[in-house]
Amino acid sequence: MLIRIKDIYKIYNEGKESEVRALDGVSLEIDRGEFVAIVGQSGSGKSTMMNVLGCLDIPTYGEYWLDGTDVTELSDRQLARIRNKEIGFIFQGYNLIQELDALENVTLPLIYQGLSIFEREDRAMEALERVGMAGRAHHRPSEMSGGQQQRVAIARAIATHPPIIMADEPTGALDSKTGQHVLEILRELNREGSTIILITHDNGIAAQANRRVRLSDGKIVTDERGEEGTQA
Ligand SMILES: Nc1ncnc2c1ncn2[C@@H]1O[C@H](COP(=O)(O)OP(=O)(O)OP(=O)(O)O)[C@@H](O)[C@H]1O
Ligand SMILES: [Mg+2]
Repeated sequence: MLIRIKDIYKIYNEGKESEVRALDGVSLEIDRGEFVAIVGQSGSGKSTMMNVLGCLDIPTYGEYWLDGTDVTELSDRQLARIRNKEIGFIFQGYNLIQELDALENVTLPLIYQGLSIFEREDRAMEALERVGMAGRAHHRPSEMSGGQQQRVAIARAIATHPPIIMADEPTGALDSKTGQHVLEILRELNREGSTIILITHDNGIAAQANRRVRLSDGKIVTDERGEEGTQA
């Protein structure tokens, strides 16, 4: 079992009239090598779930084991280390640094891995090649299209060779063809062994995952396995 959360709650303004249960008693297990989509309407708790699973946010209550480690026991420093080593993040807004070119953006997470500058650039170029962006290595985000920026963001997420990739609406801002290309890259990474957790409100995108966990009002309402086979 790679990921195991049990009775997780994320409650804002607990006890007040404005209380929101972004996650309302969620339990989930994810095995190594799965491709899971977390689906649900706006406000259902998807991003909260990814932030908890990605150790970016601490739940109000509940238990979380990542690869056998009880992460609720860890210090901020230890959490940061786990994030850098185990998880590659892809965000809807790409989150690239505007002042840096593509290569520098992808090199950034490698700084904490104790590699020389030459090794870092090799790894970063390899990741950019992987997503078909080697030719734009010295372009800044403002000089790239949305789809190209998202591919650079994927390169940044995979450069450290993390076993887990978490993507929050990675295709949300892209046209359907570009979005499909991004999805193909994720599927290929999954075939090569990466565990993928994909957040989406789009059922067509979710259908291409091997498992769909549906959230509604912070609760898991369905958990289906098997591909729906609606891919292009
Ligand atoms: N800091 C906060 N304070 C109070 N409520 C919050 C906070 N962050 C999120 N929420 C609430 O928690 C609920 C879940 O939010 P979340 O961002 O996880 O939804 P989502 O499924 O990702 O939605 P979307 O598809 O719009 O991104 C929402 O009702 C939201 O308003
Ligand atoms: Mg969200």
